[in-house]
Amino acid sequence: MADLATDRLPLFPFRSPGDDPFTPVAAADRRRLDGPVTRVRLPTGGWTWLVTRHGDVKEMLRSDAFSADATRPGFPLLRAPTPQTPQSTPGGFVRMDGEAHLRLRRMLTAEFMIRNIRRMEPLIADVVDGVLDAAEAAGPPADLVATFALPVPSLVICHLLGVPYADHALFQRHSATLLDHTADPLRAREALLGLRAYLGNLIEAKRTSGRAGDDLLGRLVDERVRTGELEIDELIGMAVLLLVAGHETTANMIGLSVLLLQRHPHVWQRLRDDDQAADAVVEELLRYLTIVRTGLPRQAIRDVEIGGRLIRAGEPVTALLSLANRDDEVFDDADEFDPYRQAHQHLAFGFGVHQCIGQPLARAELRVALTRLARRFPALTVATDPDRLPKRDTSLVYGVAELPVTW
Ligand code: HEM
Repeated sequence: MADLATDRLPLFPFRSPGDDPFTPVAAADRRRLDGPVTRVRLPTGGWTWLVTRHGDVKEMLRSDAFSADATRPGFPLLRAPTPQTPQSTPGGFVRMDGEAHLRLRRMLTAEFMIRNIRRMEPLIADVVDGVLDAAEAAGPPADLVATFALPVPSLVICHLLGVPYADHALFQRHSATLLDHTADPLRAREALLGLRAYLGNLIEAKRTSGRAGDDLLGRLVDERVRTGELEIDELIGMAVLLLVAGHETTANMIGLSVLLLQRHPHVWQRLRDDDQAADAVVEELLRYLTIVRTGLPRQAIRDVEIGGRLIRAGEPVTALLSLANRDDEVFDDADEFDPYRQAHQHLAFGFGVHQCIGQPLARAELRVALTRLARRFPALTVATDPDRLPKRDTSLVYGVAELPVTW
């Protein structure tokens, strides 16, 4: 229950980035923050510390004084849990701590290592070209989110996991509901159960078919489930996490990046003409857009000082990556998009033990998708006023819901 003092705190997530998709926190909301580590009110009635400076966010995310376990009472939640649904389900290791988290994460590290992702690049290029061929054949105008930004990472993660892309409508719908922090808790529960049932059936089919096959879920069945190291229930939770995190994030990055690059035509041209440029452009896009705009929730498990504030054991804390990535102490003119800067210190993938395991894949997808799109459609133009585009501003992962384009 909120007390009077909590009632007076600014409400988080901030709902007023306004129409500008590139300002993560509006100036008015920034002014209401009472210092770099400050308290804000949550829609579920409680409050959380908000940590906003780059150095403080890094310190917090690498410290073992914080738990990521959302089942702990007092954990900062954006959506009320339903009595039937715990916040964490078996296998969902992004919300686990210590050895339990590491045990599951370690089963995936080799899969996502840079050299293994490099081997996937021809596949990513084929996927991108196939999607571009279809868009070109259908002709302009088109919604770039539906025809390009969403299909590319969905096809790639389906291929990697061994999930049939034909089922994309089902898993995309459930993912969007799960990530929408304003979704009715019962609907969110249905979405989670729907995804678990869907992936459970798929994994069961792999398990009963002798050798499970040459995809990530099949390998985990063969090498971990059959050996007794991993429960089926845990594998289902890992599959849900990978499928959701593996397509929504990159899809929103592609859509927002294209929209931003409309304002920077010389960068669009560089992507087309200069193979060497893409890596730096992608890094700056990740920093500048920081799509995980609601930040990373944690709970202090012992008294700890962050940014000069004493945070007591049990208190909720949120690392606001989007403001940390606009910290002028670390990035000159941080509110400017500058593809020539050294952006690699950004925190868009988080930091510490939970740092995004899919980042080599996300980087490869962004590089291949954006360069090939710029080459295929050099005159690509967004056909609507950017301020009027529908935004995914109630999602844990920010983006545009549609992007009408011509070329
Ligand atoms: C974790 C961002 C793409 C899988 C995270 C975290 C962030 C993040 C901020 C940290 C969460 C936390 O500490 O609480 C992004 C962004 C992406 C992206 C911005 C795209 C541009 C991907 C892809 C995959 C993926 C493509 C998978 C195939 C994961 C997983 C975790 C994670 C499994 C949990 C890691 C752990 O808890 O050890 N991501 N992600 N992500 N991401 Fe990503």
